[in-house]
Amino acid sequence: MKHLLSAADLSKDQVLELLDTAEQMHDVQHRDVKKLPALRGRTVVNLFFEDSTRTRSSFEIAGKWLSADVINVSAKGSSVSKGESLRDTVMTVASMGVDGLIIRHHASGAPAQVARWVNAAIVNAGDGTHEHPTQALLDAYTMRRRLGDLEGKHVAIVGDLTHSRVVRSNLLLLRTLGAQITLVAPPTLMPSGISDWAAAEGFSITGELDPVLPTIDVAMMLRVQKERMSGGYFPTPREYTIGYGLTRDRLRKLPEHAVICHPGPMNRGLEIAADAADEARSAILDQVSAGVAVRMSVLYHLLGGNA
Ligand code: CP
Repeated sequence: MKHLLSAADLSKDQVLELLDTAEQMHDVQHRDVKKLPALRGRTVVNLFFEDSTRTRSSFEIAGKWLSADVINVSAKGSSVSKGESLRDTVMTVASMGVDGLIIRHHASGAPAQVARWVNAAIVNAGDGTHEHPTQALLDAYTMRRRLGDLEGKHVAIVGDLTHSRVVRSNLLLLRTLGAQITLVAPPTLMPSGISDWAAAEGFSITGELDPVLPTIDVAMMLRVQKERMSGGYFPTPREYTIGYGLTRDRLRKLPEHAVICHPGPMNRGLEIAADAADEARSAILDQVSAGVAVRMSVLYHLLGGNA
């Protein structure tokens, strides 16, 4: 594995190896002595053209706990704000002698383009509405810790599917792991062409959340991405919550063993009620914690392990 650009690039064996390594990294994460020497002498740059709390910080922690030198470059505060192009920016950063580039960009496909320009290992940390493969890995890791093997487990992915890069990476990765998937969204937030893809891959699609809830092992609630809806959004927030929010009433329909996930950041009170986000079935903070272990695993395999 030279880069991690898409969840589609990973075979089942590679996914399982990454998750198994993440289990070992989790043990490191939860011990007093956290640093491993695996990436000593390696340099990793976090190059973020879009805002992030979880992904950027967990990649920084992951790199540091593997003893890499980690540098953060964000569009705000860099020469990108003076109009420097993506190509000139990455060529400039790469010229300094970088082993790994972690890239978040608003344009779908930007990390794949960067991988053609530079020799460093490239990790897609979220590109437009396209993909977020390390999010799918940490989601699978979190589900597996709670539910065991994901083969045949029923995962409902609910909400703003049109603007979500998380859903595409999860569909690809969960399919690889043999999970059963149901997509739930209002018609206005269902991506065009999804029906054909779903038919080809065996995903279910529905506009009704309530009948699905009692049948699922995982409720993955997606953020309504208001910042990507310049013309306003429909349904209205109130209608959205009534139809698709994980409300206190809907919690009663979820099986006891079910796991509640959300990639964050959450719109509390819109797609997920505070009662749902904070109850025992919620794995949302586990997902954040898993982000460090999974990203340690990815960096280890790309830069220091069995690349
Ligand atoms: N889930 C996720 O990508 O969160 P951030 O935008 O905070 O990185």
